[in-house]
Amino acid sequence: MAFKLKNIITLLSFNSFIPYFYPAMMFPLRKWRKEAIGMLNLQDGDKVIIPGVGSGHDLKYIPKGVIVNGVDISEVMLNIAILKVKIANNEDYISLNIMDGEDLRFPDNTFDSAILGLFLTCVFDPQKAFSEVVRVVKPKGKILIYDHLVRKKKWSAHFVRSMDAVMKYNFCSFIRRVEDIIAEQPVSVSKEIRGDFFGFIKGFLVIKN
Ligand SMILES: C[S@@+](CC[C@H](N)C(=O)[O-])C[C@H]1O[C@@H](n2cnc3c(N)ncnc32)[C@H](O)[C@@H]1O
Repeated sequence: MAFKLKNIITLLSFNSFIPYFYPAMMFPLRKWRKEAIGMLNLQDGDKVIIPGVGSGHDLKYIPKGVIVNGVDISEVMLNIAILKVKIANNEDYISLNIMDGEDLRFPDNTFDSAILGLFLTCVFDPQKAFSEVVRVVKPKGKILIYDHLVRKKKWSAHFVRSMDAVMKYNFCSFIRRVEDIIAEQPVSVSKEIRGDFFGFIKGFLVIKN
């Protein structure tokens, strides 16, 4: 992967301390994540792209027979996912590769669906990453955004914005708005569900026009 200075702090974080506590953070989300992925109604032979697949928390909710391409910039997160795929004996269907989600090396209109789990709040340029997903998903394809994106409400307090300025470079932003990310793209939100007990995380089913 070409070296990208903008990703360096994210890479350092996801290749060092984050993998230690990440499973504990994801544990309470299992039921909600499963329900969100269920909105895609994945069928045998469907092709799915997962940018920022991380350590593969989505993979166990994807039916066998669905063809998955997961990409990530962190070798440590990706190696955990690769191990899970090996243990589940699912290597025929799931490919995991180091790749920048802002620059997907797939042709236009390749995938039936995409899963963006806690990725758009983490990637450096969410608009660019989302435009790449829209490019590689087929017309009428489904894109699941499962993330703690803000809707309508705008955070303005100094404190929140200063904290976010630090957090967004090493872990994730918590003030990004879904409308800002999808605005320029030929998509529409067809369904929105709660993605955790508190409603902090949401699942958005987005359809490419
Ligand atoms: C918060 S984790 C989410 C992992 C997984 N999708 C999940 O739902 O648990 C965000 C992931 O995005 C990856 N990431 C950040 N920037 C990226 C980029 N430009 N391209 C690909 N992956 C990226 C990180 O390395 C990390 O594994």
